Amino acid sequence: MPGIPQEILDEILSRVDIVEVISSFIPLKRAGRNFKALCPFHHEKTASFMVNPAKQIYHCFGCGVGGNAFNFLMRYERIEFPEAVEQLAKKAGVVIPKYNLDRQAESLNSFLYKINELAVIYYQGLLNSSEGRIAKEYLIKRGIRSETIESFKLGFAADKWDGLLNYLRSKEINLSLLEKSGLIIPKQGGGYYDRFRQRIIFPVYDLKNRIIAFGGRILPSREKEMEVAKYINSPETPIYVKGKNLFGLNFTKDNIAKFNAAVIVEGYMDFLTAYQEGIPNVIASQGTALTTEQLRLLKRYSQNVVMVFDADSAGQTATLRSLDAFLEEDMEVRVADLPSGFDPDTFIRKYGIKEFRKRIEGAKNLFDYKLDLLRSRLDQNRVEHKAKIANEMLATISKIKNAVLKLEYVRCLAEVLNLKEEALLIELKKIKPYVSVLQEKCLLEDKLSDIDPTEKLLLKLMLEEAELIEGLRGHLEPADFQNEHIARIVSVIFDLASQGRSIKPNKLMAYFSDEKISSFIGELLVPDDTLRGVESRQEIIHDCIRRLKNKRLRLKREELQEEIEIAQRTKDTERLEKLIQDFHQLTRGGI
Ligand code: CTP
Ligand code: MN
Repeated sequence: MPGIPQEILDEILSRVDIVEVISSFIPLKRAGRNFKALCPFHHEKTASFMVNPAKQIYHCFGCGVGGNAFNFLMRYERIEFPEAVEQLAKKAGVVIPKYNLDRQAESLNSFLYKINELAVIYYQGLLNSSEGRIAKEYLIKRGIRSETIESFKLGFAADKWDGLLNYLRSKEINLSLLEKSGLIIPKQGGGYYDRFRQRIIFPVYDLKNRIIAFGGRILPSREKEMEVAKYINSPETPIYVKGKNLFGLNFTKDNIAKFNAAVIVEGYMDFLTAYQEGIPNVIASQGTALTTEQLRLLKRYSQNVVMVFDADSAGQTATLRSLDAFLEEDMEVRVADLPSGFDPDTFIRKYGIKEFRKRIEGAKNLFDYKLDLLRSRLDQNRVEHKAKIANEMLATISKIKNAVLKLEYVRCLAEVLNLKEEALLIELKKIKPYVSVLQEKCLLEDKLSDIDPTEKLLLKLMLEEAELIEGLRGHLEPADFQNEHIARIVSVIFDLASQGRSIKPNKLMAYFSDEKISSFIGELLVPDDTLRGVESRQEIIHDCIRRLKNKRLRLKREELQEEIEIAQRTKDTERLEKLIQDFHQLTRGGI
């Protein structure tokens, strides 16, 4: 938080007791040195929510959330960090110093909120006046009721260049500050004019119900004119950053939390109709692809989302573009279909809210939605199209955080497209940013428990008899070891050897911050009878080296074969040639 020094935050934390803070919201029971409770962040029957007074932290073993007193307040009260700090500061009796810079920014911001408040009163007045009659009738004709118009403070900007300008001037508002609100635009040669003219006005709110911007819709009589945009919006201002705000969330956030689901539509009108007709957990994207910041905002209330975008190709494209962002945020997203040419607003008005709910209930998961869409656009029986479908799907699959789920989707895709799972995995590996599923698959298992005995034996020999290392260095390289931990250990050993430094196991351990590796090295040094009765160590070593080399060669060959297969299928001749060359080189023995 700009302006709040770390010392102040520390001071607050040292003065409040997390047990006291949390127990003012939920009942805590003593359990030994800790306190426990039913977790307020997920449903459970037995208490797995722990508060540790010694460390001043909380943690839920059920859902994994945890943190300090600030985090608790943020999560429980669904507030931002600065607010949590403010609340606790008050409780702790700590005064937060304010800096001039902050104060200036703060006063500009509160001035801008004020202007927007005045503007909305002006626009509301016009909608209810004779000048706004056509606009109001149009809204009513579209099924928007007076209460809805009132509660969302819809308005109207008349067909004048200086309507708002003169109104705010009469309130003695400083015009150069007014310009910062984006409501007026400077004219060439001096003076200003209104941004919104002859438009229905939709106020845009932040989470604290403050008006931060406006959207304006053209009247239907002018809709056909090519050169005017159907909607215009406020520009970015100090209080309005596009892509950081979700339209309607201030009205529906509590319902989104309550139902643990959000319904996302595209437009202002879709939002209003859906909300009014009984979808209390709706929000609107304002026609753009959703940003990570918007999703993080939404995630505070629910991880589950159903998208209902316009059933046209723009809507489909916007949907597709947003899907990956949901996955990156680890959110559960489904997509509801509407008949071609409809948007939520027209669909609800034609078929009713019940039918709309059915569509939401029948929403497809992301995988099916995208696959169906691709298959409707491309012909799966044509090799190039099939490859395109596979690549498009893999681009999405690569974004899935959960490795198990990711592999499951790859398996499904292989089945649907009748391709080899391994081939898809290789393709997946190529997608940037580099995410290796195979690597993640390994991560699932304990990497150190399942090591090729040859690799283990060689490392053991090096640890036991440092004199062997120099000789081995000439025949092996770290990459000959398939286990990445062993490869790392060997690489450190070889480096030390090349510098002529001693390689005592305890010193070696210090090169690895990971405790598991140190204990693995320790384990290898425990005397066992692996080498009992062996007469010639040299013979064993040669044997091991040969095995490692063969294995590496075999793996490389398999990988190349798979890649060749894909290149053949996708008719990527250039790549195919290169791969075949590599393959020949490999079998000739050059690696
Ligand atoms: N939008 C915008 N600028 C445009 C077009 C659209 O900001 N030039 C945003 C608006 O938030 C609009 C949303 O994208 O609500 C969806 O656009 P569209 O589907 O064209 O409009 P609808 O909301 O369906 O409006 P209406 O039903 O009144 O035509
Ligand atoms: Mn519409």
